[in-house]
Amino acid sequence: MKRKLLTFFIGCVVATAMCAQTKITLNTDLGKTKISKHIYGHFAEHLGHCIYGGIYVGEKNTKIPHTAGIRNDIIQALKDLKIPNLRWPGGCFADAYQWKDGIGPKEKRPSMINVWWGGAKEDNSFGTHDFLDLCERIGAEPYLAGNVGSGTVKDLSDWVSYVNHPGGSPMADLRKQNGREKPWNVKMWGVGNEAWGCGGNMTAEYYANVYRQYATFMNDWSKDAKLYKIASGASDGDYAWTETLMKNIPHHMLAGVALHHYSVLSWQDKGPSVNFTEAQYFKTMEEAWKMEEFVAKHSTIMDKYDPQKKVDLIVDEWGGWYNVEDGTNPGFLYQQNTMRDAMIAGLTLNVFNNHADRVRGANLAQIVNVLQAVILTNEEKMILTPTYHVMKMYNVHQDATLIPIMIDAPQYEFQGKKLTAVSASASKDAAGKINISLTNIDYSKAHEVTINLRGENFSKVSGQLLSSPKINDHNTFEQPNKVAPKSFTGAKLDKGVLKLNIPAYSVIMLTVEK
Ligand code: AHR
Repeated sequence: MKRKLLTFFIGCVVATAMCAQTKITLNTDLGKTKISKHIYGHFAEHLGHCIYGGIYVGEKNTKIPHTAGIRNDIIQALKDLKIPNLRWPGGCFADAYQWKDGIGPKEKRPSMINVWWGGAKEDNSFGTHDFLDLCERIGAEPYLAGNVGSGTVKDLSDWVSYVNHPGGSPMADLRKQNGREKPWNVKMWGVGNEAWGCGGNMTAEYYANVYRQYATFMNDWSKDAKLYKIASGASDGDYAWTETLMKNIPHHMLAGVALHHYSVLSWQDKGPSVNFTEAQYFKTMEEAWKMEEFVAKHSTIMDKYDPQKKVDLIVDEWGGWYNVEDGTNPGFLYQQNTMRDAMIAGLTLNVFNNHADRVRGANLAQIVNVLQAVILTNEEKMILTPTYHVMKMYNVHQDATLIPIMIDAPQYEFQGKKLTAVSASASKDAAGKINISLTNIDYSKAHEVTINLRGENFSKVSGQLLSSPKINDHNTFEQPNKVAPKSFTGAKLDKGVLKLNIPAYSVIMLTVEK
């Protein structure tokens, strides 16, 4: 018995010594690319309880504290998150939305049926003013998605004028009549959404022409509102779509090209959001890792037509997509959010940061009560999800300088298939601090990490850890803080070398200072 134990012990030591380690080298004095804060954007669609019952509970609500109908707890949580931009009103809904129905006295606004999402009645009580005021309250830049699929060039041109014209035009006068004197000066505009699908089932060639037509009549009404126009982009690996837009749209009319990618098991059966198997977990991670390939290959195509990288790649929909929770409307896309979602967020944000020379915007789908939400609500209760915590931990990278990274990482193996287990990205902030984000997606193994900090001398390290005993752990209205970040003191800094262990399925943010 004793001998067996000894053999086991020696075996462990040998195995540990041979264990693949994560080796990272950071040249802390070499960064030159800014990580655009807009990579940390969010998305709010008129879908299920994202807007109604989520963000907006109505001016007449007496149960839930609100400001002009917007929940106060949500305003605070979104301010804390430091949201750089918020995309609205869709998604697919954007190409059915008539913005003129959402202005003026609320009791007079016409209703419509939300054909894309559960056939819900849309009473238009949350409209342009409500959304743009919300953005002002939370300090986010609005990103308006224009209706190209079922609207007209004039509708979109009028919307731009309504929100941006300083005064003395029919649309500015209408805005003032509706209670808003000053223009909002909205810069970010989507010219349609998923034009290849719910936005009109167009070919890339046809859409490129439609884009040119719409963009021509979207005017810059002042120097403070120079429009940043984003073309409806490809889904996943549809590189021909990106190539056609880059080739056929003059670049002076094009600030960004979008890309959508969801981490979904299969569109026929998306699997459960909580009680998933390891096979389902592995597949979700495989899908999440595809973002690296998609971003790299779409960027390569963009490089061919735009070697100076003037046109941005905007991943304005990304995240995990599962079957809806039992008993909820299948058209409302309500799902729970576990440590698996924290893994999608951590690795995807590392991918975006490391491609910051081309990826200059992204929007997680979606912000409240829909898909990979950062916030879930139930009447007066509100919880923050593991994804919220990752987005908050990573917000130190916003507008910081990307530090080029060299990484040699171990593999997470499952049934003969392999994925990179540990991903990382690093940046230097305005005060000279280096922030390093690490995500270990391994289902069962912790990994040793060694980080060589070259170029400068540092003396202090601190950190935060998001980890939980089980991979499907999540927050509930009964246990809202089951998954929450904790301070992490496990990183040791010695002569410019950091050493730590990153637990299985966890996220760490390290900060090193001089
Ligand atoms: O985010 C949900 C939907 O997914 C969006 O409305 C659409 O753009 C995409 O297909």
